[in-house]
Amino acid sequence: MALSDVAQRAALLREKIEFHNHRYYVLDAPDISDAEYDVLYRELAALEADNPELDDPNSPTKRVGSKPADGFTPYEHVMRMYSLDNAMDLDEWFTFTDRVSKGLDREDVEYWADPKMDGLALEVIYEDGRFVRAATRGDGHTGEDVTHNIRTIMNLPLVLRGSNVPGLLEVRGEVVMSDKGFAALNDRQREAGEKIFANPRNAAAGSVRQLDPKVAASRPLRFMGYGIGRVEWASSGFGWTNQGAIMDGLIELGFSIPPEAKLCKSKQEVADYFIELMEGRDDLPYEIDGVVAKVNSLEMQEALGFTSRAPRWALALKFPAHQVTTKLNDIRIQLGRTGVLTPVAELEPVPLAGVVVSNATLHNKGYIEERDFRIGDTVLIQRAGDVIPQVLSVDMEKRPDDAQKYDFPTSCPVCESDAVEDGEAVRCTNDACPAKTVQRIIHFVSKAGLDMEGVGKKWVQRLAEDGVLVSPADLFTLEKTALLKYEGMADKSAAKFIAAIAKAKEDAPLWRLMAGLGIRHVGEQTARTLANNFEDMEAIGAVPRDDLQELDDVGPIVAESLYDYFQSEETKLLMERFKEADFWPLGTPDVEEGADELPLAGKVFIFTGTLPDMKRPQAQALVEAQGATAAKSISKKVDYVVAGEKAGSKVGKAEKLGLVVIDFDEFMELIQSPKAESKPKSEPESKIKPDSKPKAKPDSKPEPKSSLLSLLDL
Ligand code: IVH
Repeated sequence: MALSDVAQRAALLREKIEFHNHRYYVLDAPDISDAEYDVLYRELAALEADNPELDDPNSPTKRVGSKPADGFTPYEHVMRMYSLDNAMDLDEWFTFTDRVSKGLDREDVEYWADPKMDGLALEVIYEDGRFVRAATRGDGHTGEDVTHNIRTIMNLPLVLRGSNVPGLLEVRGEVVMSDKGFAALNDRQREAGEKIFANPRNAAAGSVRQLDPKVAASRPLRFMGYGIGRVEWASSGFGWTNQGAIMDGLIELGFSIPPEAKLCKSKQEVADYFIELMEGRDDLPYEIDGVVAKVNSLEMQEALGFTSRAPRWALALKFPAHQVTTKLNDIRIQLGRTGVLTPVAELEPVPLAGVVVSNATLHNKGYIEERDFRIGDTVLIQRAGDVIPQVLSVDMEKRPDDAQKYDFPTSCPVCESDAVEDGEAVRCTNDACPAKTVQRIIHFVSKAGLDMEGVGKKWVQRLAEDGVLVSPADLFTLEKTALLKYEGMADKSAAKFIAAIAKAKEDAPLWRLMAGLGIRHVGEQTARTLANNFEDMEAIGAVPRDDLQELDDVGPIVAESLYDYFQSEETKLLMERFKEADFWPLGTPDVEEGADELPLAGKVFIFTGTLPDMKRPQAQALVEAQGATAAKSISKKVDYVVAGEKAGSKVGKAEKLGLVVIDFDEFMELIQSPKAESKPKSEPESKIKPDSKPKAKPDSKPEPKSSLLSLLDL
């Protein structure tokens, strides 16, 4: 392809990919499948790799994060980012509205109201519609340049959409993390012995202030716009005259805004909105701590002006906190499957946000020490959404004289082996610790592992405590009669229990086994990668440590963990026992994940000569999307040789090998054949990092395309 063609193609792909990112992350309405998205993404990534001159910091491929920064550079906001005055109740709201009415000399004032999001304030700057910079609010005058990290936020437009694009635009908003994203992040952090975040806001702020943008890219961050700073229009005649119009404008330009935001015709409507949102706050997917109400008209805003710290036209109406104080009665240790000792606070039971809380997490040893929690203290606890309650701080004034410092155990409370510090975590060093064994088997049978529905957690615990289950391999030799000895185990439940194990034995895929073994740092994603590349467990165990790192998303830490796992005698024994029990899941090396369900699964294509209507990478992407692979050289493994014009020597070679040679028309027929048109039963998982691409959601499955060829008329 001539360079200008390549550049044009790259531009088109970038536009397409960003179009689909917008549909998925902003509109929540994807209209292509993962596989189709991946075809576009891969073609662009390949073009960029082959043509470095096409480099563009706003290419969607840059969302995975570039090189780490050395530090943060201060950024001076051209227009100050003001703070907000607070109202702690509705009386204070009406005092504020009286002042507004007096200032404007009118009663009928409309307000724009939106949730006060609990994240990190940010300014993002666009020049000629292109994202150029992002800076934190800092003290309102000077913040920090965090452009490298913000570029990775999937719902942030890198290029503004629509026809009314300002020449210069500063958008202000909040970087937030959903409660779900936060809980998942902390789970990951805990397992990896990394820092635990106290709440979604800290997690969002910590992620934005990372030097390595790859870390930020791996965090589930979103940007929600709530206003603007400077704006300059390229042509006259455009402009926004009220807050509502600004928000509509932001939506048109491709931004997310809080969906609950709305225009209130009167101060009373704001009060009603405040109550409505307060009552529904736990149902929102992210944390909010109040409502922000802004005088809607920009002219009126200007007339009211600012105090030294905040606008006179906006107010934050704060919700009462989902926090209470109670007594810390004791601290106990809970053991996880990787042997991490997690301290749990035993609290004087107290109602909080609709439930009675009597336990809350204290995260780790460092958390207790930094905040100096002592038994007998009065502590502040918080429950955020559906997140586990946590202990926030101590009320020092209420500390009794006999408050007891907590000595974090140096040995495992279950097996008494040494417990040693490992990063933020303290771990039991005994691999055979019964507590670990129980948790390990529970994980093995759980949804995250072999997904043995019918094998209950409580029963696993009992069986393990009785020594019936010592290793996951024991599950496969377990007999129904052994279960029926237990009081409370009904015949039906025992049958279900055994059947679930038998089912896993029959058809569990290798990735479930790899995820279920509980190898440190090996989650579903890595497990899937391994299963996509290796035949079985033994093949994975035989890979030299350094070679493991060549796999996608396997870095040195994961490689080391895997290597160590397979070196241990215990693992070797476990593998022997799995084999003896005839439990030996197989992987799908050389085949795209999920691809065995695709129409051209397992087929190998090779393209030679010039294809009439299509560039070669496109053709390759097309077959890959249907589960086939594209080979570079002729061999017996090739199923179809697609010969274009001037096909050359490859065709002769192919014929000698007895391979099927087809022309372009036949190729098109093949990929459009009824079989090829049928949709895969399940979408293949993407090879691209999880947060870098849209995933089709189960509840909003895109309509099947009539043909994958529709991808070609981009
Ligand atoms: S408007 C001049 N709207 O609250 C008005 N702020 O003290 C500027 N915040 O950290 C702010 N949600 O990031 C506004 N819907 C919202 C907001 C919001 C959260 C934060 C803001 C800043 C603080 C203002």
